[in-house]
Amino acid sequence: MDLRSMLFVPGDSERKLAKGASSGADALVLDLEDSVPADRIEAARAMVREYLGSHRDRSRQQLWVRINPLSTDKALADLAAITAGAPDGIVLPKTNSSADVIAAGHYLSALEVREGVPRGSVRIFAIATETAPALFALGSFAGCSPRLAGITWGAEDLAAALGAATNRDDKGELEFTYRLARSLCLAGAVAAGVQPLDTVFVDFRDSEGLRAESRAAARAGFTGKIAIHPDQVPIINQAFTPSAEEVAHARRVIEAFAAGAGTVALDGKMLDLPHLKQARRVLEIAGRLRD
Ligand code: COA
Ligand code: MG
Repeated sequence: MDLRSMLFVPGDSERKLAKGASSGADALVLDLEDSVPADRIEAARAMVREYLGSHRDRSRQQLWVRINPLSTDKALADLAAITAGAPDGIVLPKTNSSADVIAAGHYLSALEVREGVPRGSVRIFAIATETAPALFALGSFAGCSPRLAGITWGAEDLAAALGAATNRDDKGELEFTYRLARSLCLAGAVAAGVQPLDTVFVDFRDSEGLRAESRAAARAGFTGKIAIHPDQVPIINQAFTPSAEEVAHARRVIEAFAAGAGTVALDGKMLDLPHLKQARRVLEIAGRLRD
């Protein structure tokens, strides 16, 4: 299932864990990384483990856990603490390449056996643009692991990794390097046959800005977006759900091609096979969301 919205919830916050369940997010990402202070990590692991155990029905909302980067000594302890809760998946920050996904997959295989969790059931979402080497490896993910469910990108950690004072230009737009990261994430995910997920919109009070950015991401081919505040979830869900007009238009496009021509006219415009492919994609997403 494509996840339209993945809401990050600090793993050590009882209030936010409680609130996340009613947010309507397709998935929660219980965070053990950046939103948890170092001295709270043990408590957060225990709370996340407890939350997973007491929320076994994932039919309405998946539960994922962001662990610490594999390059730190926290990552294995995170995995060892939470695998017994059978998360739907882990979010892997600061992924350098598919080698990190493969390594995390091996750790998970051992832990799944230890905990009696179905082998291969814990999926992986890679945050794959947060380090300098990662930018050269976005093409490495195809076929790396059946656990890989998606790839997302981040501009904040990448700026820190590159030694940038800011990732914005004078007009407040992302600099080229970060727009490149976004495009490579999109193409890398599609090349690997997994979900491309757009990054956070940090200004969580600006709902119009979020709506515009979400729509732009949906138009570009992203299938969902990260949320950091419950108020962002309905806006994101709507942007990644084909509207009634889009579904009706897609049906008309498919009808127009029904006679078998490779190029057709509709409303005074030429349509060819990419339009048909796009129309099928809209109906496919709409159908999946209805199920
Ligand atoms: N998940 C679940 N609940 C959340 C939430 C989140 N990410 N963010 C806010 N809430 C809850 C708050 O606890 C509050 O509920 P309460 O009154 O019952 O306590 C309600 O939503 C309204 O929150 P608000 O007061 O508007 O925001 P805040 O000042 O409490 O929190 C942030 C602002 C940015 C600190 C918070 O949204 C947050 O922690 N986001 C996630 C950060 C994160 O995980 N970052 C790492 C990934 S990039
Ligand atoms: Mg980060």
